[in-house]
Amino acid sequence: MCGIVGYVGNKKAVDILLEGLTSLEYRGYDSSGVALNIDNKVQLFKAAGKLQNLKDIVNKNYSEISKSTIGIGHIRWATHGAPTVENAHPHSCNCGRVAVVHNGIIENYKELREKLEKNGCTFRSQTDTETVAHLVASKFAQTQDLTEAVRLATKEIEGAYALCVIHQDVKNTIVATRRNAPLLVGIGEKEYYVASDVPAIIQYTKQAFYLDDNQIVTLTPDSMKLIDIENNSISPKIETLPWEPVALSKMGYKHFMLKEIHEQPDVVRNVLSGKLRAIDENITLNEVTLDKDKIKNLNRIQIVACGTSLHAAMVGKYIIEDFCGIAVDVEPSSEYIYRKTITDKNTLVIGVSQSGETADTITAVRQAKSKGSHILIITNRPDSTMAREADSLVPVNAGIEVSVAATKSYMAQLISFYLIAIYIAEIKESIDKKELSDLKHELIVLPQKIEKILAHKEDIQKCSKAFSSSKDFIFIARGINFPTALEGALKLKEISYINATGYTAGELKHGPIAMLDETMPVLSILMSGKVYDKILSNSEEAKARNARMIALTDSVDEKLNELFDNIIRIPEISEILSPALAIVPLQLIAYYIAEFLGKDVDQPRNLAKSVTVE
Ligand code: F6R
Repeated sequence: MCGIVGYVGNKKAVDILLEGLTSLEYRGYDSSGVALNIDNKVQLFKAAGKLQNLKDIVNKNYSEISKSTIGIGHIRWATHGAPTVENAHPHSCNCGRVAVVHNGIIENYKELREKLEKNGCTFRSQTDTETVAHLVASKFAQTQDLTEAVRLATKEIEGAYALCVIHQDVKNTIVATRRNAPLLVGIGEKEYYVASDVPAIIQYTKQAFYLDDNQIVTLTPDSMKLIDIENNSISPKIETLPWEPVALSKMGYKHFMLKEIHEQPDVVRNVLSGKLRAIDENITLNEVTLDKDKIKNLNRIQIVACGTSLHAAMVGKYIIEDFCGIAVDVEPSSEYIYRKTITDKNTLVIGVSQSGETADTITAVRQAKSKGSHILIITNRPDSTMAREADSLVPVNAGIEVSVAATKSYMAQLISFYLIAIYIAEIKESIDKKELSDLKHELIVLPQKIEKILAHKEDIQKCSKAFSSSKDFIFIARGINFPTALEGALKLKEISYINATGYTAGELKHGPIAMLDETMPVLSILMSGKVYDKILSNSEEAKARNARMIALTDSVDEKLNELFDNIIRIPEISEILSPALAIVPLQLIAYYIAEFLGKDVDQPRNLAKSVTVE
């Protein structure tokens, strides 16, 4: 979380920094700031709240501020210290000559701060980052060399960081470094860019290189020097970024989330493209390098992920176990990493992540890798840190997802799991061919079914409005749609702040049923299949406690009208594929309730899209 950007060259630095921060807003939006060298003086401009507040400050004095051709910028997701102006980056030292922006967490900041305070440093913020500013300033006082000052400082810092540093006495120079946080350097004509992520620089250059851990780069308009933490010279691995500059436009939709929900039919087509060619042909997954004999001998699969990606993984467990007969464990990465890692070379470990930068999942896959497991990464970002850990990569091709609440990337992850499960099942010959070709056919027509739901979204909007004053919300399901209930609840709580929970319907009577009364909406995900009748009786139990009943169903049974106050009907679909259809109305319900309540749909409070801290 947090986004950083830097520029040194001949252009107006502030324009590039603010543009860059705009495209990094998905990484946080608690506060923002820039540091520029104006008339040979490092000056900081900072604002709490949304980036627009910083833009307003800059605009008031634009002619002065835009003189600078060097600067660094930051957008913050608060970890240490409240989202105030004092805690906003860039941070500086006592003499005000150094400015630092940071993404990550300095774990030993308390000890460092104590030491620096004893040496006379006065701290102005509660952040861990300010220690870096003082530390670099003190090292610079000893060495008069900014690269060396940063190098010596990083030797004392523990934790994760991407850092950009400027110093008033070292003209036209940015020093940047990283450890366990992403950072890339863009190369232009007599200019360099530094950023946490590609969108911040792609409109200016496609030539770039990713910094590896413990590398330090020193940039001036005319030179670039890369070293490691031991001061050895390194040649950067320059690559052409496979990205096109994208106009992040809402295309007429009120919010990115609504646009991204509508993109899902095409996302399904994209994921299938080139992999599912025809129903009588085997699936091709070119990026899966695990050989066929090893796949046949797999005795276990572990999947690690967080949040929405975890819910996709839970659906993946059902599909893989069902098709391939391999036991699958799914675990939140944040739990996986703090207990004994029991895995080996006969276990396939799958990491799922939209961003590919989630710190917990990166650590989890690294732990599994060190035990010899084959690592398969499912991600929307083939250029991410996690993708670089992969032995096999399944890029999900959902396109840039701007809204913090994940929608289309979830759909892409689900479809990827269907493809992986079919791929393994075909190699293992673990499932009847007819069943597989039926599923392939259903996958091909899935986009049209999603389109049908979207074409009737006004009905869902009406139903959502009726429940928008609820303080709580319960989603129930069983079997393969239990993760759908969890994901529906997560979508609702993260953007509307309503206390929503997903339960397996069978668990309701073991405790949660105590909460039911006439104020509590219960949404039953009632898809045709093995557990339909069971969920129906669990819904009866809820109705008997006067809950307000909503059904999400592909059944046309008229009798449901007696049990449910509201019914959202969706096209018929097989039970195994139903999570990919049932999630769409739930995304819309969350969207419409949040929109009706006037919430900040695309940038809900306290969240960031890329969670790069553990
Ligand atoms: C919810 C959401 C988060 C992410 C989670 C993992 O809408 O987006 O729960 O799913 O932070 O992020 P990735 O998938 O980037 O690892």
